[in-house]
Order: sequence, then C-alpha cells, then structure tokens
Amino acid sequence: MAQFATDQVVIQRIFDHIDGQTTDVGDAVWREPVTNYTCPQRFAEEMALFRRIPLLFCPSSALTHPGDYVARKSAGRPVVVLRDKTGKLRGFHNVCRHRGKQLLQGEGCTKAIVCGYHGWAYQLDGTLQYVPHEEGFPDLDKSTHGLVPIKVFEQDGLVFICQEQPLADDTLATLPPILSPEQVLFASNEAVADVNWKINMEATLEGYHIKPTHKETFYPYGYDNLNVVEAAGPHIRVTFPFQRIEKLRSIPAPQRDISGCVTYAHHIFPNATIAVLSKHTVMVISEPEAPGRTRFVTYRLANADMSGKDNETSVKRDADFVADTGGREDAAVVREIQAGLASPANTHFTYGQYEKGIVHFHKTLTDMLARCGY
Ligand code: FES
Ligand SMILES: [Fe+2]
Repeated sequence: MAQFATDQVVIQRIFDHIDGQTTDVGDAVWREPVTNYTCPQRFAEEMALFRRIPLLFCPSSALTHPGDYVARKSAGRPVVVLRDKTGKLRGFHNVCRHRGKQLLQGEGCTKAIVCGYHGWAYQLDGTLQYVPHEEGFPDLDKSTHGLVPIKVFEQDGLVFICQEQPLADDTLATLPPILSPEQVLFASNEAVADVNWKINMEATLEGYHIKPTHKETFYPYGYDNLNVVEAAGPHIRVTFPFQRIEKLRSIPAPQRDISGCVTYAHHIFPNATIAVLSKHTVMVISEPEAPGRTRFVTYRLANADMSGKDNETSVKRDADFVADTGGREDAAVVREIQAGLASPANTHFTYGQYEKGIVHFHKTLTDMLARCGY
C-alpha cells in the first residue's frame, strides 16, 4: 500500500526547510504548450482518458443510505452513482433505455428510478421493472434494457467511477488513505466557471505563489515558498505549513500532533483535490465541460465529530475564511490566466523546480495520453 510520509517526518522536513531557508525542489523544468489549454482536439483526448481511469466522484458519506444517489456529468456524459437496497454501490449511464432522457438529477434518495418522460421504471440494481402500456412494445426484451452499468470503486471513504475499460495502470493502488472514518460531510455545492480545468488545478499544487498572491490572507500565517511535495503514483501531496508549527519544536518528535499546523493539499489524479485544513476538509472535483468551462463540485467534511470540540460553527467559520479570502484570490488569478490564453505572448508556460507538483501532473497526463495513443 502506497503511503505518504508520516506526520513526524513531514514536521522534521519542515523544520529543516525553515532552518535552512530551503524548500522541496523538483529535478526538472516543464514547458507546457499554451494550446493544450484551449485546443478542442486536446480536450477531447483528455476526456477520452478521463473515461479510462478511475475518477473521484464523491465521498462515501454522500451515499450513506440505500437509495442515496449522486447524478451529474462526468467526462461529458451523464452518470449516476447510487447505493442499492443491499448497500452495494452501483454506477450507471444516467440515460433511459427508451429514448434517452436523463433519469436522475443532482443528489437525493429514491426507492426506484422512474423516467419522467414516459414512465419506464428501473430498480436500484438497474433492472428495467415496469413499462407503461407494455403491449405497445411487442418485442421488447426487458432483460436487455436495464440501465447500462459503469464501474464503481470505493476506497478509504472515497467513491470513484470508471466509464470504460480502465487503462492498465491502477491509479487507485498507489493512492494512500486520505480521509479518516470519523469525517462527516456537512456541505456540498456546485459552481461553473469559464476556466480550463487544469489552470484551476495548478493553483493548488504549489506554494511558490503564497507570498505575492496571498500577502494579507494566508501568508501572514504561513511561509514564503516552503513546502513538502510528495508523489504517490500519479497523485501528489503538497504540505503547506503554518508558522504555528514552531510550537512543536519543544515537543519530543513521537508526540508531535500536526493537526492545525499544516494544510495537506492532495491532488487525486487527474481532476480532484482534497485539502485537509485545520478543522475541515475540502474536496473539489473539476468536471470539465469545454476547454474553457469547468463545473466545480465541492464537498466539505468536518475533520472531527462536529458535535464535539470542533462544533459546527467553528468548522463553518474556518470554511468561510478560506473560501472568502485566499480562495477568492486564487479564483481571480485563474480567471486572469484564462483571459490571457488568447494572447500570443506565450507559446509555452514554464513550470520551475519550485512547482514540482505541477510538473508531475503534466508529465503524468502527457504519459497517460500517450498510452491512449494520443
Ligand atoms: S425516454 Fe424514458 S420512458 Fe421514454
Ligand atoms: Fe493560492
């Protein structure tokens, strides 16, 4: 099982960087063609890849009870994941087998899946159960007109889907556990922005921008260009320390508790991030809709039992602070980069050794596209 470094090792690496005025550095500089953010052909290839690797879809805690479902477009196609009556997770193409209407919308809980157009009804296992006025379809074989399944994987509190035959690389085998079992979902929302999915992703994968971009928000609590960056297969963890980590220096290493002293920002390849902050965890799944448009699906989970010391109010205050301050600053930068894609000034963007997480992302994406024949 793949693992990231232990908290104790991360703490020591951060102290070494503070003392040496260093940070983790990559061994390569990457030049990414600007057209890869705008080209419809490249976008179509990325979506073809998305259908052949497990994509993070939602936390398990969004699908707790029998009948719970989450429906949305993934890699350009409507899909639904639900928990059936036996507790098993199932995924389907979310289109009716009669004339293709989408069946379920958003999140909810249902006993059966009934098409709103002509009333064909499916069981939660996908079986076509009922066709109104069935005598009008004399040759219909209901057993071959159930919902078409997609693969669903559940691992360490995360739900993944894969629409087509997966590539040989098992991207889940290298993903270390990130959530702890006691983490509960307390909010979710969706927003669409006119930006390329990769530009937004990159904003979370390096700490080189913390001082100039977040001068009065995150930086006063953190450091300039000081991160621990780890890869686990195609996935990444970037550790952003807070200055309050200094209080751990006087505590013997085995007893140091890192919670509240760092943000662990994970990139789950290819299109999801999970940031473990002081009191809560934010999962953002980027669902690309076009080269210049992305739907962001956000899930917020409390880090501890919300009825306990980290009560609902303090967790929400923590969440609002991040979203309203540094989060806005990042979003503004991403919009400006998107607007600049039309400029002829850059043929390539250059990612340096302090942006090693992004270099890893582009290298992995390029390699995987090549394995798909692109
Ligand atoms: S399209 Fe679903 S019942 Fe006709
Ligand atoms: Fe940022």
